[in-house]
Amino acid sequence: MNKIWIAPSILAANFARLGDEVRSVLDAGADIIHLDIMDNHYVPNLTMGPQVCAALRAEGIKAPIDVHLMATPVDSLIIDFAKAGATYISIHPDATTHLDRSLQLIRDCGCKPGLVFNPATSLDACQYVMDKIDLILIMSVNPGFGGQTFIPAVLPKIREARNLIDNSGRNIRLEVDGGIKEENIAEIARCGADTFVAGTAIFGKHDYEQVITAMKASAASARDS
Ligand code: DX5
Ligand code: ZN
Repeated sequence: MNKIWIAPSILAANFARLGDEVRSVLDAGADIIHLDIMDNHYVPNLTMGPQVCAALRAEGIKAPIDVHLMATPVDSLIIDFAKAGATYISIHPDATTHLDRSLQLIRDCGCKPGLVFNPATSLDACQYVMDKIDLILIMSVNPGFGGQTFIPAVLPKIREARNLIDNSGRNIRLEVDGGIKEENIAEIARCGADTFVAGTAIFGKHDYEQVITAMKASAASARDS
């Protein structure tokens, strides 16, 4: 069973002080930094490119960086983010023509591949690539924006993904992304998630350590109960 990880999404951070913000959440107990890459094509929003990942590495950030590509096409971005120091690179199945090849490219570039499922997307795309992924990311909001409300209809899909992973016998992280906060993380953990993205719930607070500690404790006790 994987350790509970909290993955702050920097989309909600103060971009004018991004290096300080990332160091602060890591000092406060965050495990991995979630970068939301949006191209205003796959989703109706535009955020950042590989240079932000490279800048964090140049600043000495050693923690894993979790790149969530909400962009299409993906292959050249995979290569660029791998060069920029990404640890995980996650892609949406409908953002690439050849999913198996794109997942293989992430691994060939030395990164850990993730597969992302939007709220209305079934897990079918998993079935032939379980050997090519290290992470499944279940979107609990429609991709494109932070600060949205968690969609409870994805809870059964989280359970389904947990069963798929357990039956595969592979060490695959189960990440959930969107609208996660102290008040709902326990229920999400009970469904089998081990990695939790939170943007607004963390960067919207004054005390990062208090909220990250509370979220981790709540998720761990719910999952282990
Ligand atoms: C949405 C992004 C999420 C989002 C999470 O497209 O993938 O990572 O930034 O932000 P909150 O936690 O505020 O919903
Ligand atoms: Zn995300």
